[in-house]
Amino acid sequence: MQVGILGGTGPAGRALATRVAATGATVVIGSRDEARAAETAREIRESWPGYALGVIGMRNDKAALSDLVVLATAFEAASETATSLAEELSGRVLVSMANGMNRVGKELQPVLPARGSIAATIQAALPATKVTAAFHHLPAREFSDIVAAIESDVLVCADDEEAALTTTAFIESIPGLRALRAGSLAMAGAVEALTAVLVNVNIRYRCHTTLRLMGVPSDPRSHES
Ligand SMILES: NC(=O)c1ccc[n+]([C@@H]2O[C@H](COP(=O)([O-])OP(=O)(O)OC[C@H]3O[C@@H](n4cnc5c(N)ncnc54)[C@H](OP(=O)(O)O)[C@@H]3O)[C@@H](O)[C@H]2O)c1
Repeated sequence: MQVGILGGTGPAGRALATRVAATGATVVIGSRDEARAAETAREIRESWPGYALGVIGMRNDKAALSDLVVLATAFEAASETATSLAEELSGRVLVSMANGMNRVGKELQPVLPARGSIAATIQAALPATKVTAAFHHLPAREFSDIVAAIESDVLVCADDEEAALTTTAFIESIPGLRALRAGSLAMAGAVEALTAVLVNVNIRYRCHTTLRLMGVPSDPRSHES
């Protein structure tokens, strides 16, 4: 499988690219600038000699032609970037991991667009694309270290059932991650906003939290309604 990561030159995209490539998938780092994408891909490959990571870099419009596409641009650019690639993204699953946040004094506070979430805003703009929301709560630094195990739940919001299944399968192809269906894109605002809460916890306690919901059955799929 080929995974494209739009804005994959930032810490979140690099971390996801590294973990995904470690599963054996091919990753296309996307960027507005082809040279920056290629340089980022080279840095990732050279950071992990011996792993033969299949990471390459291209412009966002080329990365958007992948089997599955993740939107990892800065949150302010997420909607504009996705909309500019409407043709390339038509018929594809687009996983939005963007969280809107602003610093207010010492605190990070969530920023939610008028439609309630970045993911829902993009879905409204791109009706021919199946938008899902996931990966919001994974700390980039810890996620990028493929030698260190990471244990985390990943909340998935989606309106389209097939896209939700594709996204959960993608998440669970990465060791240590458990995908939990959190509802339709109407829930994505709560999921995006929770990130600011977790960042404030991280700041206060000088840590990097991941999310783990207690009480979920050990075989969640067989209990799904
Ligand atoms: N950092 C984390 O731990 C983390 C965890 C979970 C989710 N997230 C979310 O994941 C996304 C990426 O996070 P990040 O920390 O990697 O962000 P970032 O470094 O601020 O931005 C990522 C990339 O977005 C592109 N970009 C910036 N401004 C743009 C513009 N005006 N138009 C088009 N592209 C633009 C840049 O790529 P080019 O310049 O190469 O085009 C940049 O490298 C964010 O939405 C964030 O909320 C972050």
